[in-house]
Amino acid sequence: QRQRIQAVLSTGPLMPVITIHREEDALPLAEALVEGGIRVLGVTLRTPQGLPAIETLSKRLPPEVLVGAGTVTDPGRYRQAESAGARFVVSPGITPRLLDYGLTSNAPLLPGVATVSELMLGYELGYRAFKFFPAAVAGGLEALKAMSGPFPDVMFCPTGGIRRDTAREYLALDNVMAVGGTWLTPEKQVNAGDWPAIARLARESLASCLG
Ligand code: 3PG
Repeated sequence: QRQRIQAVLSTGPLMPVITIHREEDALPLAEALVEGGIRVLGVTLRTPQGLPAIETLSKRLPPEVLVGAGTVTDPGRYRQAESAGARFVVSPGITPRLLDYGLTSNAPLLPGVATVSELMLGYELGYRAFKFFPAAVAGGLEALKAMSGPFPDVMFCPTGGIRRDTAREYLALDNVMAVGGTWLTPEKQVNAGDWPAIARLARESLASCLG
């Protein structure tokens, strides 16, 4: 389990958190992100278009692009995400049922934590990689640095309040493998179907993180 989710996070340093409002946007939006160099996509289940989008993208994108489900809050939703073809699952927080289910699923779980105690609940079950959410308000960079003391073997993908100019600072931390967020899919460009702008933003964000 822990290796499988770490493999997801090491596929690419930026994970767009994508919420689809129009079904027809899913493929061109994802293709633009892939064109811009993105290799891991988190599609949230915040809208009814989420599951069908995961289904479409996992069939239509090349297999080296990992399409996962975000905002999964219970095992029922987890099962739906698996059936839609999600290669991994992200939750904003944890529940005992969700953590248990994640241990048995073929689509590994990246459980969301905001505190050390939540992290310890997951750690106890064998989880060693977490989403740190909402990162900016839960202590940001300083909190992640502090957690590396007692938990040197835990890796994070922070999300929540991260933008293009702060992504780099998070990625510079030893315990951060990837960062996520919605800044890679600005509503204005998505609504306008400005896919070249989305590709450009992804490319520039990657360049500024890696450069
Ligand atoms: C998430 O679920 O990770 C957040 O919605 C991302 O938050 P952001 O909009 O601040 O990037």
